[in-house]
Amino acid sequence: MTWKLTKKIAFISLFTIKLASANEFLVTDQDFPPDNVKMENLGKFLFYDKILSGNEDISCATCHHPFAASGDGISLPIGTGGIGLGVMRNPNNIKKRVARNSPHLFNLGASEFTTLFHDGRVTKLVSPAGDDLPLGLDNPLAVQAMFPVTSDAEMAGEKGENTIADATAEGNLISVWQQLAARLQQIDEYVYLFIDAFADVNAAEDITYVHAANAIASFEAAAFRCTNSPFDQYLRGNYDVASEQQIRGAILFYGKAQCSTCHSGAFQTDQKFHAIGIPQIGPGKGDNLPGYNDGHDDFGRERVTKDAADRFKFRTPSLRQVTMTGPWGHDGAYNDLEQMILHHLNPVKALNNYDIRQALLPSRTDLHKIDIIAHQDQKRRQAIIDAIEINPIKLTDQEIYDLIAFLHALTDVNCIDLRRTAVNRVPSGLPIRD
Ligand code: HEC
Ligand code: HEC
Repeated sequence: MTWKLTKKIAFISLFTIKLASANEFLVTDQDFPPDNVKMENLGKFLFYDKILSGNEDISCATCHHPFAASGDGISLPIGTGGIGLGVMRNPNNIKKRVARNSPHLFNLGASEFTTLFHDGRVTKLVSPAGDDLPLGLDNPLAVQAMFPVTSDAEMAGEKGENTIADATAEGNLISVWQQLAARLQQIDEYVYLFIDAFADVNAAEDITYVHAANAIASFEAAAFRCTNSPFDQYLRGNYDVASEQQIRGAILFYGKAQCSTCHSGAFQTDQKFHAIGIPQIGPGKGDNLPGYNDGHDDFGRERVTKDAADRFKFRTPSLRQVTMTGPWGHDGAYNDLEQMILHHLNPVKALNNYDIRQALLPSRTDLHKIDIIAHQDQKRRQAIIDAIEINPIKLTDQEIYDLIAFLHALTDVNCIDLRRTAVNRVPSGLPIRD
């Protein structure tokens, strides 16, 4: 009785007094798009089908796999040309690198996720395609699904390898989407599934890549909704689900440790962009500080806003399922959750002492040389340090373990085993395995 009461008091002080209103944390069905089983089933096939890649050798699932918590489990993805899955993926034949970590897809169907990618370059109405973006996309997830297929390193391939890659190299996105639609129109099973799922598709020639993107988005929103964590249950009044340590961790998270200044709201993100000094590893996004021209930097949000004040800012990630989604950071620099938290508590020290050996990067000497260039350079490190927004915070080891315990309470156990989101065949007949 007293035990329960203590918890209840902690609950009340934590969520009702310290914060304006507990309602801001409650997730309901209204936050997600309504179920549409036909679109979801079609989207599930498309998500796993290598038919959407130029060389027919990679699918969305390769980098967002249920066996790697809807990411790929490595620091930087190994795109087209790679063989195998996740930590076992072989990079020997890749020609181009992907510069950022493949994020998990949990809860992205929730209406508050209006901005996608680490730098927020996709929103429902704005995207890198500008005026070329077709009409009819249902939500930001659908807008996003238009782009991986137009990326040379991710899915399209290199100029000369296939006609989709050629169109990508010319910046002709409309041609990429038309060619993919043409592929789908030739597969009878897909034609049937599209006609069944969409009122405006009555024959093969009505299928566009926009339909495919809407179906993929529908699948992602439903399959990766994970909103029954102990945190959610606690908010609904089931106080027994949380351990004492998790409650201590929550009080730290929403108090002394100041995590909730950025990791706020129902999904532990303010949906904004902040500079916290994560080490820059990998090939970079082509950005250059004054005096450099190798392109191994990544200016983050500045790439979208063109405002130098946004340099090295990245989107605050949602912390739902975060204990499963390593490596962490926009480039997967940290492969240990405790290290990621320690980084926040003293970013300058962590950045200066960062050891790249903890990152999961391709074991190719030629690539390794490139991956360490930016971080090894003291001037470049200093530029990242100058942008850092957080001041050091001192916590005891016990407090750090409590915080980690709280992060565990953000895990919906129904989303640990994601086999239900996988398929064992696809309508194109292409192999699913590598
Ligand atoms: C080669 C690996 C790779 C493939 C293949 C791939 N992605 Fe991604 N995905 C990434 C990376 C890397 C990012 C982050 C890029 C960035 O922020 O600049 C990303 C970002 C996303 C996001 C945004 C997540 C967020 O939190 O903002 C979604 C959604 C997504 N991918 C879905 C898809 C879909 C759908 C497909 C197939 C059409 C796909 N991806 C194919 C690597 C991949
Ligand atoms: C100033 C805003 C801010 C504060 C305060 C903050 N974070 Fe973060 N956090 C971020 C941003 C931004 C990222 C992503 C950085 C990147 O990818 O470069 C991040 C990333 C993370 C990640 C990795 C998530 C992932 O998917 O890669 C974890 C875990 C995390 N934060 C936990 C915490 C904890 C615990 C605290 C409190 C001790 C905290 N954060 C305080 C902004 C903040």
